Amino acid sequence: MSDRDAPLAAWLDWYALMGVTDVVGEHAADRFQAGRSDEPPETAAHSAEAEAIRTAAPAPRAAPPETVPLGLGDDPYQQGRRTAEACNSLDELIQALRDFDGCALKTTALNLCVADGNPEARIMLIGEAPGAEEDRQGRPFCGPSGQLLDRMLTTIGLSRETVYITNLVYWRPPGNRQPSAAEIAVCQPFLERQIELVRPRVIQFVGGMSARVLLDAKEGVTRLRGRRFTYQPRSGEPIPALVMFHPAYLLRSPVQKRFAWRDLLALQDVAVQENIVSLSG
Ligand code: URA
Repeated sequence: MSDRDAPLAAWLDWYALMGVTDVVGEHAADRFQAGRSDEPPETAAHSAEAEAIRTAAPAPRAAPPETVPLGLGDDPYQQGRRTAEACNSLDELIQALRDFDGCALKTTALNLCVADGNPEARIMLIGEAPGAEEDRQGRPFCGPSGQLLDRMLTTIGLSRETVYITNLVYWRPPGNRQPSAAEIAVCQPFLERQIELVRPRVIQFVGGMSARVLLDAKEGVTRLRGRRFTYQPRSGEPIPALVMFHPAYLLRSPVQKRFAWRDLLALQDVAVQENIVSLSG
């Protein structure tokens, strides 16, 4: 990096530290003309701590209060349910989501983000919501938490070839806030249909939110992880389900990784019982 680029890099570091992840203005403001008082501290920008904070996902902000009272004739929940139930393949479901305008998140997202991994896989992972990188690429878990998730799966012999990954909602909530109850509810029929179409032998909830919604549970992730659940699809056999800490949380609280390891062993256990992986390799 040249001497000329260093102040610019320090500014970008500073913005990342402050949790700024997106450019919203049309025109760039020349901060170098704005006086020295608001320059970033040079030392912090290059410290190991700054690096750790920069690469970890920021803590999600709370969802906004619900603001979508619905008219009788234009109920997106009913429309979503009817549309999702009419889908007979994952391709149809993806197309239906492309055409569906009932979720407000679609208006601010760059891309629809339905799934990654192997649709034939017998393990289905369900996270929360796409983040900035997922929104850019249009596939779940391809940002920093996805990279940690990949490393975690590798330790128990799994990979994107052996799992299928999706989220509770299919578009990124602006600014990485949590999805609201209305946004989750409108996506839920599509997710339920997606599960019926994939027909996994095990569901691994990634974080507490997807577990609470699909298992109709109230507890936080700390109480949900470490237990065995059963998810009952609207049609078909009950599916064993587990809950693990979300990798974004582990990036913020690395001390919890020892519990995450137990979660992985629990998933490996079920995967072995279901003949999805074998311990001998
Ligand atoms: N967090 C999630 O829950 N899902 C993603 O796809 C990315 C981050």
